[in-house]
Amino acid sequence: YEAQLDLSDIEKGTYPYYMLKEIDDQPAVMRRIVQEYTNTLGETIIDEKIIETITASDRIYIVACGTSYNAGWVGKALLEKMTNIPVEVHLSSEFGYNMPLLSEKPFFIFLSQSGETADSRQVLVQVNEQGFSSLTLTNVVGSTLSREADYTLLLHAGPEIAVASTKAYTAQIAVLAVLAKAVGDNKRNQFSLDFDIAHELSVIAAVIETIIDEKMLISQLVEEYLTTTRNAFYIGRGVDYYVSMEASLKLKEISYIQAEGFAAGELKHGTIALVEEGTPVFGIITDKKTAAHTRGNLKEVESRGAHNFVIALASLSKETDQFIIPDVHPLLTPLVSVVPTQLIAYFATLQRGYDVDKPRNLAKSVTVE
Ligand code: G6P
Repeated sequence: YEAQLDLSDIEKGTYPYYMLKEIDDQPAVMRRIVQEYTNTLGETIIDEKIIETITASDRIYIVACGTSYNAGWVGKALLEKMTNIPVEVHLSSEFGYNMPLLSEKPFFIFLSQSGETADSRQVLVQVNEQGFSSLTLTNVVGSTLSREADYTLLLHAGPEIAVASTKAYTAQIAVLAVLAKAVGDNKRNQFSLDFDIAHELSVIAAVIETIIDEKMLISQLVEEYLTTTRNAFYIGRGVDYYVSMEASLKLKEISYIQAEGFAAGELKHGTIALVEEGTPVFGIITDKKTAAHTRGNLKEVESRGAHNFVIALASLSKETDQFIIPDVHPLLTPLVSVVPTQLIAYFATLQRGYDVDKPRNLAKSVTVE
């Protein structure tokens, strides 16, 4: 893909900020991933050696930082469901210095948009010293992590320039979904065999478009919820918790609102003490199994004064919800539920008067440990 790079990829054109352009790029990125990684029969196209090596492994270790780490948690859910191989997700900066006991046949997946993050690289160096197999998912051809791992899968997201990562997150999840299906099919996992990934990712692309069409609604809601607040919380369970972690990282890193993502069920064990009159609490609800429980948690915070903002899948939504997302395949809901949260971070930052693309103290790619 890099070879066909055209100027429109690196110029923001009529967009006021790269971040908004990159949020808008996501439907096209989903379609490109379908094109690159599936054939006309809907089968996945992934190097057989990668599939065989993962199939032969007894545990997958996902190692990453920042947004890539958050994508790793969604990857764990996808890989475990389709491959039946246990998956652990680790922060590079912890893993490198406190390496956990490894299984007998570990397989390492490094997630890195830039492919240059020093914290992740120092883990890869150790993995190579110990002779373990590894794969890097990256957006950058020829990047350090790509060169030093045994295998590479490209994200095909096009250059990501805004410091706050958006399309790389969704691309990582989509490519991990393709990988999970490739290994799952190889293991004849029925769930995987029934999963029409090309079709489901196309549906995702269309749904992301409908969410982006609603951006003015999100902008209005943000004005009501986030213009003056000092803090905000995202809550959810399972994959909705994983998206809550990413949503809060996005919000805090560019708007400087102190934002945290919590497992909804843990609120009562401490965090609920932080809720005051008017505290914005964003609930993410995309999973039938946990929807009622998360709604219960939202009631608890509301009765303590929280200003609730519910993002829900249409089939699980209530009329009073603030933002409703069309239904998609249950395994892929993070690809759509994250999009309103990217727009929430974007508008909160604009409305508070900060530079969306260049937040203070942060770099796009961190090459020191
Ligand atoms: C920096 C960026 C984050 C990014 C993280 C990991 O902190 O500001 O947006 O998620 O690095 O980067 P990587 O390139 O390894 O995905």
